[in-house]
Amino acid sequence: MFKELEALEKEFPQFKEKNSPTVKVGSTSSKKFEDYTHKTRLYSLDNTYSYEELEKWYEKIKADFPNRKELEVVCELKIDGLAVALTYENSELTVGATRGDGVTGENITANLKTVKTIPKHLTSDGISLEARGEIYMPKSAFEQLNKRQADSRQKLFANPRNAAAGSLRQQNPEITAERELAMFTYAGILNNPEVKTHEETLLYLKKMGFNLNPNFRKCKNIQEAIEYCKHWDKARYDLDYATDGVVIKINELAIQNELGFTSRAPRWATAFKFPPEEMSTTLLDIEINVGRTGAVTPVAVLEPVFISGSTVSRATLHNFDEIKRLDINIGDRVLIKKAAEIIPKVITVMKKGSRQSGAFEAPEKCPFCGSTLVPAEGEVNLYCPNTLGCPAQLKGRVEYWASNDCMDIEGLGESIIAQLVDKELIKSPADLYSLTVDDLMTLDLIARKSAQNLYNSIQASKHPPLARFINALGIRHVGKEMSEILAKKFLTFENLKHASAEDILEIEGAGEKIAGSVLDFFKNSYNNEVLQKLEANSVIPEELKREEGKDTFAGLTFVITGTLSKPRDSFEKIIKQHGGKVSSSVSKKTAYVLLGEAPGSKFDKARELGVKIINEKEFDDLLGEN
Ligand code: IVH
Repeated sequence: MFKELEALEKEFPQFKEKNSPTVKVGSTSSKKFEDYTHKTRLYSLDNTYSYEELEKWYEKIKADFPNRKELEVVCELKIDGLAVALTYENSELTVGATRGDGVTGENITANLKTVKTIPKHLTSDGISLEARGEIYMPKSAFEQLNKRQADSRQKLFANPRNAAAGSLRQQNPEITAERELAMFTYAGILNNPEVKTHEETLLYLKKMGFNLNPNFRKCKNIQEAIEYCKHWDKARYDLDYATDGVVIKINELAIQNELGFTSRAPRWATAFKFPPEEMSTTLLDIEINVGRTGAVTPVAVLEPVFISGSTVSRATLHNFDEIKRLDINIGDRVLIKKAAEIIPKVITVMKKGSRQSGAFEAPEKCPFCGSTLVPAEGEVNLYCPNTLGCPAQLKGRVEYWASNDCMDIEGLGESIIAQLVDKELIKSPADLYSLTVDDLMTLDLIARKSAQNLYNSIQASKHPPLARFINALGIRHVGKEMSEILAKKFLTFENLKHASAEDILEIEGAGEKIAGSVLDFFKNSYNNEVLQKLEANSVIPEELKREEGKDTFAGLTFVITGTLSKPRDSFEKIIKQHGGKVSSSVSKKTAYVLLGEAPGSKFDKARELGVKIINEKEFDDLLGEN
C-alpha cells in the first residue's frame, strides 16, 4: 500500500497531502488519547549514585540555611512505574493524566478510574487538590499476567513497568480494569496553609483516601537517610513491587519553596539509585528449554551465585542469536545481572573457557520429543511444532484444551492436569477420552463422586463447535478469533486439514504467518497421531452448514456499551451468527452502537462521530425485519 501510495503521489502530485506517510519520518504514531496540559508542571528528579554524592547534596542545601543545625528529610522508595497526576474538584476525581513531558500528558481518566487504589471521591467534601503518584503492577500480578499471556499465546511483557504501561494505554478501560494495577501516592498540591511539611502532605493525602507506600520514613539528618537506603538496597527484593532507588525530600515546605527547581528537577529532592547487582560465575551448561507453547529457549546453567537477594543458578539466554552475539560457550566465565528485570540475564563473557567443541550450535531436534524444530515466521526463535504430543508442552496444552473457549471441560483444572501428566496417565489431550473413573480415582484428593463427574464432563465435551475445536489445538498464531474465521471458511475439520496455503491466504487478515503455522501443524506426524487418536475416541467437532438468509448484518460492525438485559456474549453471538462483526472501539467504520444502561466513553465517541446509536429494542427490530 505504501508503494502504491508513492506511485500515485508521483503521478498526481496535486493530491499529495502534506502529512502523507511518505513524507513523515518514523512511525505515524496514532495518538490514542487526548492531550492534557498540566496545571502545574511535573518535574523529574536528579539522581545520585553514591552515599558521598548524597551527603554532598545535603550539605550544599544546609549551607544555604546556616541557622539550621539539621534539616529533616523524608525518605521514600522510588517506585518503578509510571507517574500520573490526579485532579480533584469539589472532592471528585475529574482528570487523571500521565506525566508526558511534564507540561503535557495524556488524558487517561477512564482507565485510571478502574484502578482500585485511586479514590474516585475524597473522604471529605468540598476539596480541590492534585495528587501525584506512581502507577505500578505488583510483581505477583505481573507473573500471573504473563502466564495468561503465554497461555493465550500473546506477547509477554518484559517487566512489571512495561506491563503497567501497556495496561494503562488500553483503548478499552475494561481491559485496564482486568489488570491488577495499583497506585502509591507520593505528592500533593493541596493549597492548604495548615500543611507545612511533606510528611503532613502525605498524612493529609492518606486521610483523604489515597494509598501511600507504607515504607516512607522521616529522618533527622542525612546519616539516617543513608541508613534507610542501605536497608532497602537489601530488603527491596522481598517487596511485591519493583523499586529502583530511594527519593530523599526536604521535609519543610517553606524550605522547598525557597530552594525551587532547576529546569528539570527540584533542588529540594534527589533520587538515590540502587546499584544493579552484577556478579561473575561459570557457565556450566546450556540447556534447551521448551515452553508450554513450544517456544525453544536456551538457558544458561550457572555455578550458583548470590545476587540481588537470591541465589541464581540459571539465567535466560533468550535465543540462539543471542548466543552468537555474546559468543558464549560452556566453560566460559560470564557476568550476570539481575536489575529491574526479575529474570537474571547473562550480560557478557569475561573470560573464554577451553572451547574444545567449537561454537555452540542450535539443536535441530526437540530434546523432549524428537520433532524437527522449525523457525517461527518473523521471530528469531525456534519452536517445536509437535503441539499436541510434546511432553514439554503437555501441561500447558491440556490446560488450554480444557478451557472455556476450547473444549470447555468442567472440573479439569491445573492441579488435576498436573497429576494426570506426572502420573503418565495422559501423553496427549486425546488420552483424556480413554481415562476411566478408576483411573481418575487414583488422583490425590479426588472422591468417587467427583471422579464420576469429571469423567462425565470429559465425555460430554466430545462434540464441540468446530471453532472451539480448532482453538483447542493451540496452533501457533491461531487464537479464538482466527479459529472462528477458519471454521466459517472451511466448515469441516477435514477441509481445514487439507487446506493449502493459498486457501488460507484468501482469508482477510490471514497472512503467511498463520498459513505457515497451520501447515506446519498438520505436517507434524505426532500431531497427526493425536488427531487420529481423537477421532478413534470419537472426539468429533460439529460441522458448520452454510446458513442461508442469515446474513442480516453482513459487513456491519457493532460496538456494545453499557449493561444490557443479557450478557454481552450473547449479543456478540447473535451479531456474528448474522454475519456481523463486533469491535471494542468506536470509529467511523462502526455501523451501530448498541447502547445499554450506564454506557461508557464509547457512547460519547459515537455521538461525536455521528454513529447510529440503537437500544436493545431497536436491535431486535433490526433482526426481526429480516
Ligand atoms: S517525587 C518533583 N517520589 O520518579 C518530584 N517520584 O525520576 C517528583 N517516582 O517522574 C517526583 N517514586 O515517576 C517522587 N516516591 C517518589 C517516587 C517518584 C517514583 C518517579 C516519578 C518521577 C520519577 C523521577
